[in-house]
Amino acid sequence: MRRVVRSFDEWRAAARGLLADGVPPECAEWVASDDDGDLFSAASAANEEVLARPAAVVALRLPRELMEMLTSAACFSATDRWAFLYKVLWRWQLGEREVMSAADPDGARLYAMVKAVRREEHDMHAYIRFRERKEEDGAPRFVAWFEPTHEVLPQVAVHFARRMGSATWMIATPSAAVLWDGEQLHDAPALMRSAADIDDAGEALWLTYYRSIFNPARLNAELLRSHIPSRFWKNLPEGAIVPAMVSAAANGERRTGQTGAVGRRGGAATIAVTPERAQPQRDQPDTLDQCRRCELWRNATQAVPGVGPRKARIMLVGEQPGDQEDLQGLPFVGPAGAVLERALAEAGVKRDQVYLTNAVKHFKWELRGKRRLHKTPAQREVAACHAWLEEELASVRPEVVVVLGATALKSVLQDGSATMASVMDAPFQHEGRWVVAVYHPSFVLRARDEESRQQAYEVIVAGLRQALTLAPARSG
Ligand code: URA
Repeated sequence: MRRVVRSFDEWRAAARGLLADGVPPECAEWVASDDDGDLFSAASAANEEVLARPAAVVALRLPRELMEMLTSAACFSATDRWAFLYKVLWRWQLGEREVMSAADPDGARLYAMVKAVRREEHDMHAYIRFRERKEEDGAPRFVAWFEPTHEVLPQVAVHFARRMGSATWMIATPSAAVLWDGEQLHDAPALMRSAADIDDAGEALWLTYYRSIFNPARLNAELLRSHIPSRFWKNLPEGAIVPAMVSAAANGERRTGQTGAVGRRGGAATIAVTPERAQPQRDQPDTLDQCRRCELWRNATQAVPGVGPRKARIMLVGEQPGDQEDLQGLPFVGPAGAVLERALAEAGVKRDQVYLTNAVKHFKWELRGKRRLHKTPAQREVAACHAWLEEELASVRPEVVVVLGATALKSVLQDGSATMASVMDAPFQHEGRWVVAVYHPSFVLRARDEESRQQAYEVIVAGLRQALTLAPARSG
Protein backbone atom coordinates (compact mmCIF):
# COMPACT_ATOMS: atom_id res chain seq x y z
CA MET A 1 0.00 0.00 0.00
CA ARG A 2 1.41 3.33 -1.07
CA ARG A 3 1.07 6.55 0.85
CA VAL A 4 2.34 9.94 -0.26
CA VAL A 5 3.04 12.31 2.62
CA ARG A 6 4.30 15.85 2.87
CA SER A 7 3.94 16.57 6.55
CA PHE A 8 3.66 14.98 9.95
CA ASP A 9 -0.09 15.55 10.02
CA GLU A 10 -0.48 13.72 6.74
CA TRP A 11 1.68 10.88 7.95
CA ARG A 12 -0.35 10.62 11.16
CA ALA A 13 -3.66 10.47 9.30
CA ALA A 14 -2.32 7.89 6.84
CA ALA A 15 -0.73 5.82 9.62
CA ARG A 16 -4.02 5.66 11.48
CA GLY A 17 -5.76 4.37 8.41
CA LEU A 18 -3.11 1.71 7.81
CA LEU A 19 -3.22 0.62 11.44
CA ALA A 20 -7.00 0.32 11.22
CA ASP A 21 -6.59 -1.94 8.19
CA GLY A 22 -3.95 -3.98 10.00
CA VAL A 23 -1.31 -3.23 7.35
CA PRO A 24 2.11 -4.28 8.71
CA PRO A 25 5.12 -1.99 8.08
CA GLU A 26 6.61 -4.28 5.43
CA CYS A 27 3.45 -3.94 3.31
CA ALA A 28 3.25 -0.15 3.52
CA GLU A 29 5.17 1.99 1.06
CA TRP A 30 5.82 5.56 2.13
CA VAL A 31 6.69 8.18 -0.41
CA ALA A 32 7.80 11.65 0.60
CA SER A 33 6.35 14.15 -1.83
CA ASP A 34 8.87 16.52 -3.46
CA ASP A 35 6.41 19.32 -3.09
CA ASP A 36 6.77 20.40 0.48
CA GLY A 37 3.31 21.87 0.61
CA ASP A 38 2.34 24.56 3.05
CA LEU A 39 4.60 24.38 6.08
CA PHE A 40 1.96 25.68 8.39
CA SER A 41 -1.13 23.94 7.11
CA ALA A 42 -2.27 20.60 8.43
CA ALA A 43 -3.13 17.88 5.96
CA SER A 44 -3.22 18.42 2.22
CA ALA A 45 -5.35 16.76 -0.41
CA ALA A 46 -2.71 14.14 -1.24
CA ASN A 47 -4.31 11.57 1.01
CA GLU A 48 -7.93 12.51 0.71
CA GLU A 49 -8.89 8.91 0.65
CA VAL A 50 -7.15 8.34 3.97
CA LEU A 51 -8.19 11.58 5.60
CA ALA A 52 -11.81 10.92 4.73
CA ARG A 53 -11.88 8.07 7.21
CA PRO A 54 -13.52 8.86 10.50
CA ALA A 55 -10.75 9.68 12.97
CA ALA A 56 -12.14 7.18 15.42
CA VAL A 57 -11.20 4.12 13.37
CA VAL A 58 -8.20 3.53 15.57
CA ALA A 59 -8.49 4.51 19.16
CA LEU A 60 -4.76 4.58 19.68
CA ARG A 61 -3.68 6.50 22.72
CA LEU A 62 -0.02 7.31 22.68
CA PRO A 63 1.88 8.61 25.68
CA ARG A 64 2.83 12.26 25.33
CA GLU A 65 6.50 11.44 25.35
CA LEU A 66 6.18 9.09 22.37
CA MET A 67 4.04 11.60 20.49
CA GLU A 68 6.67 14.29 21.07
CA MET A 69 9.43 11.98 19.92
CA LEU A 70 7.56 11.03 16.76
CA THR A 71 6.87 14.69 16.02
CA SER A 72 10.54 15.58 16.42
CA ALA A 73 11.86 12.54 14.56
CA ALA A 74 9.57 13.42 11.65
CA CYS A 75 11.84 16.41 11.00
CA PHE A 76 14.87 14.17 10.57
CA SER A 77 16.04 14.16 6.96
CA ALA A 78 16.10 10.52 5.89
CA THR A 79 14.30 8.98 2.96
CA ASP A 80 12.84 6.18 5.08
CA ARG A 81 11.71 8.34 7.99
CA TRP A 82 7.96 7.89 7.42
CA ALA A 83 8.32 4.14 7.05
CA PHE A 84 10.46 4.03 10.18
CA LEU A 85 7.98 6.06 12.22
CA TYR A 86 5.21 3.76 11.09
CA LYS A 87 7.24 0.77 12.22
CA VAL A 88 7.62 2.35 15.66
CA LEU A 89 3.89 3.02 15.82
CA TRP A 90 3.06 -0.49 14.67
CA ARG A 91 5.29 -2.07 17.30
CA TRP A 92 3.82 0.18 19.98
CA GLN A 93 0.24 -0.83 19.18
CA LEU A 94 1.31 -4.48 19.27
CA GLY A 95 2.29 -3.83 22.88
CA GLU A 96 6.05 -3.76 22.27
CA ARG A 97 6.79 -0.99 24.75
CA GLU A 98 10.53 -1.54 24.43
CA VAL A 99 10.35 0.35 21.14
CA MET A 100 10.60 3.46 23.32
CA SER A 101 13.74 2.27 25.03
CA ALA A 102 17.20 3.29 23.90
CA ALA A 103 18.22 -0.35 24.45
CA ASP A 104 15.99 -1.44 21.56
CA PRO A 105 17.51 -0.95 18.07
CA ASP A 106 14.45 0.97 16.80
CA GLY A 107 14.22 2.88 20.07
CA ALA A 108 17.90 3.79 19.79
CA ARG A 109 17.38 5.08 16.28
CA LEU A 110 14.34 7.07 17.38
CA TYR A 111 16.31 8.68 20.21
CA ALA A 112 19.20 9.47 17.89
CA MET A 113 16.84 11.12 15.39
CA VAL A 114 15.19 13.21 18.11
CA LYS A 115 18.55 14.26 19.47
CA ALA A 116 19.85 15.27 16.05
CA VAL A 117 16.72 17.30 15.32
CA ARG A 118 16.85 19.10 18.66
CA ARG A 119 20.52 19.84 18.18
CA GLU A 120 19.72 21.27 14.76
CA GLU A 121 16.98 23.48 16.24
CA HIS A 122 19.47 24.72 18.80
CA ASP A 123 22.13 25.39 16.18
CA MET A 124 19.68 27.23 13.98
CA HIS A 125 18.64 29.44 16.91
CA ALA A 126 22.27 30.12 17.71
CA TYR A 127 23.90 30.52 14.32
CA ILE A 128 21.31 32.16 12.16
CA ARG A 129 22.15 35.78 11.35
CA PHE A 130 19.46 38.23 10.35
CA ARG A 131 20.66 40.95 8.04
CA GLU A 132 18.84 44.23 7.86
CA ARG A 133 17.57 45.48 4.52
CA LYS A 134 15.67 48.52 3.36
CA GLU A 135 12.01 47.90 4.09
CA GLU A 136 10.56 48.73 0.70
CA ASP A 137 7.58 47.41 -1.25
CA GLY A 138 6.49 45.33 1.67
CA ALA A 139 9.81 43.42 1.70
CA PRO A 140 10.77 42.10 5.13
CA ARG A 141 13.17 44.20 7.16
CA PHE A 142 15.41 41.32 8.20
CA VAL A 143 16.47 38.40 6.10
CA ALA A 144 18.40 35.30 7.05
CA TRP A 145 19.76 32.37 5.12
CA PHE A 146 20.42 29.00 6.73
CA GLU A 147 21.15 25.49 5.51
CA PRO A 148 19.67 23.14 8.09
CA THR A 149 20.51 19.47 7.96
CA HIS A 150 17.03 18.57 9.17
CA GLU A 151 13.60 20.08 8.53
CA VAL A 152 13.38 22.34 11.52
CA LEU A 153 12.36 25.56 9.79
CA PRO A 154 8.70 25.63 10.97
CA GLN A 155 9.50 25.35 14.69
CA VAL A 156 12.49 27.69 14.43
CA ALA A 157 10.26 30.24 12.71
CA VAL A 158 7.80 30.02 15.60
CA HIS A 159 10.69 30.59 18.02
CA PHE A 160 11.75 33.80 16.23
CA ALA A 161 8.15 34.97 15.79
CA ARG A 162 7.85 34.95 19.58
CA ARG A 163 11.07 36.88 20.04
CA MET A 164 11.23 39.46 17.29
CA GLY A 165 7.96 41.26 17.94
CA SER A 166 6.52 43.23 15.06
CA ALA A 167 9.72 43.55 13.01
CA THR A 168 9.19 41.79 9.70
CA TRP A 169 11.62 39.08 8.62
CA MET A 170 12.16 36.15 6.35
CA ILE A 171 14.19 33.00 6.87
CA ALA A 172 15.17 31.19 3.71
CA THR A 173 16.65 27.71 3.39
CA PRO A 174 17.52 25.75 0.24
CA SER A 175 14.10 24.09 0.21
CA ALA A 176 11.68 26.48 1.89
CA ALA A 177 11.24 29.95 3.28
CA VAL A 178 9.11 31.51 5.95
CA LEU A 179 7.94 35.08 6.17
CA TRP A 180 6.85 36.89 9.33
CA ASP A 181 4.75 39.93 8.52
CA GLY A 182 4.76 41.22 12.08
CA GLU A 183 1.61 39.30 12.94
CA GLN A 184 1.58 35.98 11.18
CA LEU A 185 3.88 33.40 9.67
CA HIS A 186 3.57 32.63 5.97
CA ASP A 187 5.04 30.00 3.79
CA ALA A 188 7.15 32.09 1.38
CA PRO A 189 8.61 31.20 -1.99
CA ALA A 190 12.32 30.36 -1.59
CA LEU A 191 13.70 33.07 -3.84
CA MET A 192 17.26 33.08 -2.56
CA ARG A 193 19.79 30.42 -3.26
CA SER A 194 22.51 31.46 -0.85
CA ALA A 195 23.51 33.95 1.78
CA ALA A 196 25.24 35.94 -0.97
CA ASP A 197 21.84 36.79 -2.45
CA ILE A 198 20.97 38.93 0.54
CA ASP A 199 21.77 42.60 0.11
CA ASP A 200 22.81 43.89 3.42
CA ALA A 201 23.04 47.33 4.85
CA GLY A 202 23.74 46.29 8.43
CA GLU A 203 26.47 43.80 7.68
CA ALA A 204 29.31 46.29 7.37
CA LEU A 205 28.37 47.67 10.75
CA TRP A 206 28.29 44.21 12.28
CA LEU A 207 31.70 43.31 10.86
CA THR A 208 33.22 46.53 12.18
CA TYR A 209 31.79 45.73 15.57
CA TYR A 210 33.01 42.13 15.41
CA ARG A 211 36.54 43.23 14.49
CA SER A 212 36.57 45.74 17.30
CA ILE A 213 35.60 43.22 19.99
CA PHE A 214 37.99 40.59 18.68
CA ASN A 215 41.00 40.42 20.93
CA PRO A 216 43.82 38.40 19.39
CA ALA A 217 45.43 37.89 22.79
CA ARG A 218 42.42 35.93 23.98
CA LEU A 219 42.03 33.88 20.88
CA ASN A 220 41.59 30.19 21.35
CA ALA A 221 41.10 28.99 17.81
CA GLU A 222 40.29 25.42 18.86
CA LEU A 223 37.55 26.63 21.19
CA LEU A 224 36.17 28.92 18.51
CA ARG A 225 35.97 25.99 16.10
CA SER A 226 34.48 23.61 18.61
CA HIS A 227 31.83 26.14 19.64
CA ILE A 228 30.75 27.00 16.13
CA PRO A 229 30.73 23.93 13.91
CA SER A 230 32.54 24.76 10.68
CA ARG A 231 29.50 24.14 8.45
CA PHE A 232 27.93 27.30 9.92
CA TRP A 233 30.90 29.56 9.32
CA LYS A 234 30.28 30.07 5.64
CA ASN A 235 26.90 31.68 6.28
CA LEU A 236 27.94 33.81 9.21
CA PRO A 237 28.94 37.34 8.20
CA GLU A 238 31.90 37.16 10.54
CA GLY A 239 32.90 33.84 8.94
CA ALA A 240 34.57 35.74 6.12
CA ILE A 241 36.88 37.75 8.33
CA VAL A 242 37.60 35.24 11.11
CA PRO A 243 40.20 33.13 9.24
CA ALA A 244 42.27 36.25 8.48
CA MET A 245 42.00 37.42 12.07
CA VAL A 246 42.95 33.98 13.37
CA SER A 247 46.09 33.82 11.24
CA ALA A 248 47.00 37.41 12.08
CA ALA A 249 46.67 36.47 15.75
CA ALA A 250 48.93 33.47 15.25
CA ASN A 251 51.46 35.69 13.50
CA GLY A 252 52.10 38.02 16.35
CA GLU A 253 49.01 40.13 16.92
CA ARG A 254 48.60 38.31 20.20
CA ARG A 255 51.25 40.61 21.51
CA THR A 256 50.56 43.76 19.55
CA GLY A 257 46.85 43.50 18.91
CA GLN A 258 45.76 46.40 21.03
CA THR A 259 48.72 48.65 20.38
CA GLY A 260 47.37 50.02 17.15
CA ALA A 261 44.01 50.92 18.61
CA VAL A 262 45.61 52.46 21.69
CA GLY A 263 48.11 54.40 19.60
CA ARG A 264 45.40 55.77 17.31
CA ARG A 265 43.36 57.18 20.15
CA GLY A 266 43.09 60.96 20.18
CA GLY A 267 43.54 63.09 23.29
CA ALA A 268 46.05 65.40 24.85
CA ALA A 269 48.41 62.85 26.30
CA THR A 270 50.48 60.41 24.33
CA ILE A 271 50.35 56.91 25.66
CA ALA A 272 53.83 55.50 25.53
CA VAL A 273 53.29 51.85 24.91
CA THR A 274 55.57 49.44 23.17
CA PRO A 275 54.25 46.31 21.50
CA GLU A 276 56.00 44.19 24.15
CA ARG A 277 54.15 45.92 26.94
CA ALA A 278 50.79 45.95 25.27
CA GLN A 279 49.70 42.60 26.65
CA PRO A 280 46.02 42.76 27.50
CA GLN A 281 45.47 42.42 31.20
CA ARG A 282 42.18 40.72 31.79
CA ASP A 283 42.69 37.16 30.70
CA GLN A 284 39.87 34.83 31.60
CA PRO A 285 40.60 32.68 34.65
CA ASP A 286 41.62 29.08 34.12
CA THR A 287 40.43 27.81 37.46
CA LEU A 288 37.33 28.55 39.45
CA ASP A 289 39.19 29.85 42.46
CA GLN A 290 40.84 32.52 40.30
CA CYS A 291 37.48 33.62 38.90
CA ARG A 292 36.95 37.37 38.73
CA ARG A 293 34.25 37.38 36.07
CA CYS A 294 32.00 39.31 38.44
CA GLU A 295 32.42 41.01 41.80
CA LEU A 296 31.00 38.28 44.04
CA TRP A 297 34.41 36.78 44.80
CA ARG A 298 35.31 39.86 46.84
CA ASN A 299 33.01 39.03 49.75
CA ALA A 300 33.06 35.26 49.54
CA THR A 301 35.35 32.94 51.48
CA GLN A 302 35.93 30.76 48.46
CA ALA A 303 34.35 29.57 45.23
CA VAL A 304 32.28 26.41 45.68
CA PRO A 305 32.69 23.92 42.84
CA GLY A 306 30.29 21.09 42.03
CA VAL A 307 30.78 17.65 43.53
CA GLY A 308 29.86 14.16 42.40
CA PRO A 309 30.83 11.43 39.96
CA ARG A 310 32.46 12.83 36.82
CA LYS A 311 30.06 10.80 34.70
CA ALA A 312 26.87 11.15 36.75
CA ARG A 313 23.67 10.67 34.75
CA ILE A 314 21.82 13.24 36.85
CA MET A 315 23.04 16.74 37.64
CA LEU A 316 21.32 18.89 40.25
CA VAL A 317 21.77 22.62 39.85
CA GLY A 318 21.03 24.94 42.77
CA GLU A 319 21.25 28.70 42.97
CA GLN A 320 24.43 29.64 44.83
CA PRO A 321 26.30 28.49 47.95
CA GLY A 322 24.85 29.60 51.26
CA ASP A 323 26.66 30.57 54.45
CA GLN A 324 27.71 27.02 55.39
CA GLU A 325 28.67 26.11 51.86
CA ASP A 326 30.81 29.23 51.60
CA LEU A 327 32.70 28.26 54.75
CA GLN A 328 33.10 24.57 53.93
CA GLY A 329 33.64 24.90 50.17
CA LEU A 330 30.99 22.25 49.43
CA PRO A 331 27.53 22.62 47.90
CA PHE A 332 24.34 21.88 49.85
CA VAL A 333 25.79 21.22 53.28
CA GLY A 334 23.59 23.76 55.14
CA PRO A 335 19.86 23.75 55.99
CA ALA A 336 18.71 23.66 52.34
CA GLY A 337 21.10 20.76 51.84
CA ALA A 338 19.38 18.87 54.65
CA VAL A 339 16.01 19.24 52.91
CA LEU A 340 17.56 18.10 49.66
CA GLU A 341 19.21 15.14 51.37
CA ARG A 342 15.83 14.02 52.76
CA ALA A 343 14.10 14.44 49.39
CA LEU A 344 16.83 12.48 47.60
CA ALA A 345 16.48 9.62 50.07
CA GLU A 346 12.70 9.62 49.74
CA ALA A 347 12.93 9.57 45.94
CA GLY A 348 15.36 6.65 46.08
CA VAL A 349 18.24 8.66 44.62
CA LYS A 350 21.62 8.16 46.26
CA ARG A 351 23.46 11.39 46.91
CA ASP A 352 26.68 9.94 45.54
CA GLN A 353 24.87 9.00 42.34
CA VAL A 354 24.26 12.63 41.36
CA TYR A 355 26.47 15.57 40.49
CA LEU A 356 25.57 18.53 42.69
CA THR A 357 26.40 22.08 41.72
CA ASN A 358 25.15 25.67 41.62
CA ALA A 359 24.43 28.22 38.92
CA VAL A 360 26.58 30.77 40.76
CA LYS A 361 29.72 29.61 42.52
CA HIS A 362 30.32 32.43 45.01
CA PHE A 363 28.11 33.26 48.00
CA LYS A 364 26.27 36.58 47.65
CA TRP A 365 25.13 37.98 50.95
CA GLU A 366 24.29 41.05 52.99
CA LEU A 367 24.92 41.60 56.65
CA ARG A 368 21.88 41.65 59.01
CA GLY A 369 23.04 42.09 62.57
CA LYS A 370 25.72 39.44 62.85
CA ARG A 371 24.32 37.16 60.18
CA ARG A 372 25.27 36.90 56.55
CA LEU A 373 21.95 36.68 54.77
CA HIS A 374 21.61 35.18 51.30
CA LYS A 375 20.98 37.68 48.51
CA THR A 376 19.64 36.55 45.14
CA PRO A 377 22.32 36.88 42.46
CA ALA A 378 21.69 39.41 39.69
CA GLN A 379 21.18 38.15 36.17
CA ARG A 380 24.59 39.52 35.10
CA GLU A 381 26.23 37.49 37.88
CA VAL A 382 24.37 34.37 36.78
CA ALA A 383 25.45 35.04 33.20
CA ALA A 384 29.06 35.67 34.24
CA CYS A 385 29.17 32.35 36.08
CA HIS A 386 27.50 30.39 33.31
CA ALA A 387 30.82 29.44 31.73
CA TRP A 388 31.65 27.26 34.76
CA LEU A 389 28.32 25.48 34.63
CA GLU A 390 28.77 24.98 30.91
CA GLU A 391 32.14 23.35 31.60
CA GLU A 392 30.58 21.03 34.15
CA LEU A 393 27.77 20.09 31.76
CA ALA A 394 30.27 19.40 28.99
CA SER A 395 32.46 17.20 31.14
CA VAL A 396 29.85 15.31 33.20
CA ARG A 397 27.40 15.05 30.27
CA PRO A 398 24.38 14.22 32.43
CA GLU A 399 21.28 12.83 30.78
CA VAL A 400 19.02 14.74 33.14
CA VAL A 401 19.50 18.13 34.74
CA VAL A 402 17.30 18.90 37.73
CA VAL A 403 17.05 22.65 38.17
CA LEU A 404 16.31 23.70 41.71
CA GLY A 405 14.50 27.00 41.40
CA ALA A 406 14.40 29.94 39.00
CA THR A 407 18.04 31.02 39.09
CA ALA A 408 19.21 27.54 38.08
CA LEU A 409 16.54 27.39 35.39
CA LYS A 410 17.60 30.72 33.88
CA SER A 411 21.21 29.69 33.89
CA VAL A 412 20.67 26.25 32.34
CA LEU A 413 18.39 27.65 29.62
CA GLN A 414 20.51 30.81 29.33
CA ASP A 415 17.30 32.73 29.28
CA GLY A 416 16.91 35.45 31.88
CA SER A 417 13.17 35.58 31.29
CA ALA A 418 12.48 31.87 31.88
CA THR A 419 9.94 31.22 34.62
CA MET A 420 9.34 28.15 36.75
CA ALA A 421 5.59 28.31 36.19
CA SER A 422 6.03 27.67 32.48
CA VAL A 423 8.13 24.50 32.86
CA MET A 424 7.29 22.84 36.15
CA ASP A 425 4.53 20.57 34.93
CA ALA A 426 6.64 18.21 32.85
CA PRO A 427 10.27 17.40 32.01
CA PHE A 428 11.42 18.83 28.70
CA GLN A 429 14.35 18.47 26.37
CA HIS A 430 17.01 21.14 26.13
CA GLU A 431 20.21 20.82 24.15
CA GLY A 432 19.88 17.06 23.95
CA ARG A 433 19.19 16.36 27.60
CA TRP A 434 16.18 16.24 29.89
CA VAL A 435 15.49 19.12 32.20
CA VAL A 436 13.30 18.66 35.26
CA ALA A 437 12.34 21.85 37.11
CA VAL A 438 11.43 21.76 40.81
CA TYR A 439 11.34 24.19 43.70
CA HIS A 440 14.53 25.12 45.45
CA PRO A 441 14.83 23.31 48.84
CA SER A 442 14.99 26.66 50.64
CA PHE A 443 11.52 27.40 49.27
CA VAL A 444 10.37 24.54 51.51
CA LEU A 445 12.09 26.15 54.49
CA ARG A 446 10.52 29.53 53.78
CA ALA A 447 6.96 28.27 53.16
CA ARG A 448 4.46 29.96 55.47
CA ASP A 449 2.68 26.88 56.85
CA GLU A 450 3.08 23.16 57.18
CA GLU A 451 0.74 22.37 54.31
CA SER A 452 2.61 24.56 51.78
CA ARG A 453 5.89 23.19 53.10
CA GLN A 454 4.73 19.65 52.47
CA GLN A 455 3.42 20.49 49.02
CA ALA A 456 6.67 22.14 47.95
CA TYR A 457 8.68 19.25 49.36
CA GLU A 458 6.59 16.71 47.45
CA VAL A 459 7.19 18.57 44.21
CA ILE A 460 10.93 18.18 44.78
CA VAL A 461 10.61 14.47 45.59
CA ALA A 462 8.44 13.87 42.51
CA GLY A 463 10.95 15.70 40.31
CA LEU A 464 13.81 13.61 41.65
CA ARG A 465 11.85 10.42 41.02
CA GLN A 466 11.16 11.62 37.53
CA ALA A 467 14.87 12.24 36.98
CA LEU A 468 15.60 8.70 38.09
CA THR A 469 13.08 7.32 35.62
CA LEU A 470 14.59 9.36 32.80
CA ALA A 471 18.13 8.32 33.70
CA PRO A 472 17.98 5.01 35.55
CA ALA A 473 21.17 3.92 37.30
CA ARG A 474 23.42 1.64 35.30
CA SER A 475 23.12 -1.89 36.47
CA GLY A 476 26.17 -3.91 37.41
N1 URA B 1 21.40 26.75 48.21
C1 URA B 1 21.88 26.48 46.97
O1 URA B 1 21.25 26.80 45.95
N2 URA B 1 23.01 25.85 46.86
C2 URA B 1 23.72 25.45 47.90
O2 URA B 1 24.79 24.88 47.69
C3 URA B 1 23.21 25.73 49.17
C4 URA B 1 22.04 26.38 49.31
